[in-house]
Amino acid sequence: MNTHLMVSDAEHFRIDYEINPYMDTEDQPDTGAAVAEHDAIIEAHRRAGRTVERMPSEPGCPDMVFTANAALVRRGRAVLGHPPAARANETEHYRRWLERRGYEVIEAPYAFSGQGDALPCGDILLAGSGWRTDPRMHDFLGERLGYDVVPLRTVDRRWYDLDLAVAVIGNPHTLAWCPEALDRPSRQRIERLGLELVEVSRAEAERFALNLVSDGDTVTMTRDAPRLAATLRNRGLRVVELPTTELAKGGGGIRCTALTLE
Ligand code: ARG
Repeated sequence: MNTHLMVSDAEHFRIDYEINPYMDTEDQPDTGAAVAEHDAIIEAHRRAGRTVERMPSEPGCPDMVFTANAALVRRGRAVLGHPPAARANETEHYRRWLERRGYEVIEAPYAFSGQGDALPCGDILLAGSGWRTDPRMHDFLGERLGYDVVPLRTVDRRWYDLDLAVAVIGNPHTLAWCPEALDRPSRQRIERLGLELVEVSRAEAERFALNLVSDGDTVTMTRDAPRLAATLRNRGLRVVELPTTELAKGGGGIRCTALTLE
């Protein structure tokens, strides 16, 4: 899992609008530092043996570094994201990129945050809604991509995408999550999945602890969540911790910067 990724770059990363509670137009990223941070993430993916494809960012798309929101891809099919208006310009670029590579591209009929709100775990899809994804997308994704969908709802705008509150670790069936970030029925649904669960504190989750990429052997994550990093190491995973201070100004972390292609 997560061995083939699509990333963009941080050349045009800016805070031009505020569409999540972490963004503040008065607090701009330093472009040089952001590019270095992003390059280090890509380097870590490659060292972990993952294939990384790059799609250049566009000047009019200041959030394009966060490619996870582009789509949800499975077995040669891609359901395109349908983002908030401020990010609408990105979608055409993603569509063209995916089509050129031979993916069957499917339009999302409702608001959809792409992989930001859709975390595959084998044949199960953990799917968020409430902030960036219309709940009607869940059946649509189940049908078009062949998943059993587990609908989940986060309780606060801080968790505007599910990939801030839940992370699939794998190896073989482990999930890390911040229970407080989910409403009670969602918590129960997760507890009944029969997976091994690793709890993450609200404080670490707010520092993008769960916004990680795991292939089941190596976990690439922020260096701002030492407790989760230690827990995962104790479970036998290789953990690579990286700075994410510039990306955090956009309200994202490592998971947000990579779209999984398989
Ligand atoms: N500034 C971006 C937005 O609000 C951040 C997206 C982060 N992506 C994610 N998968 N959580 O859309």
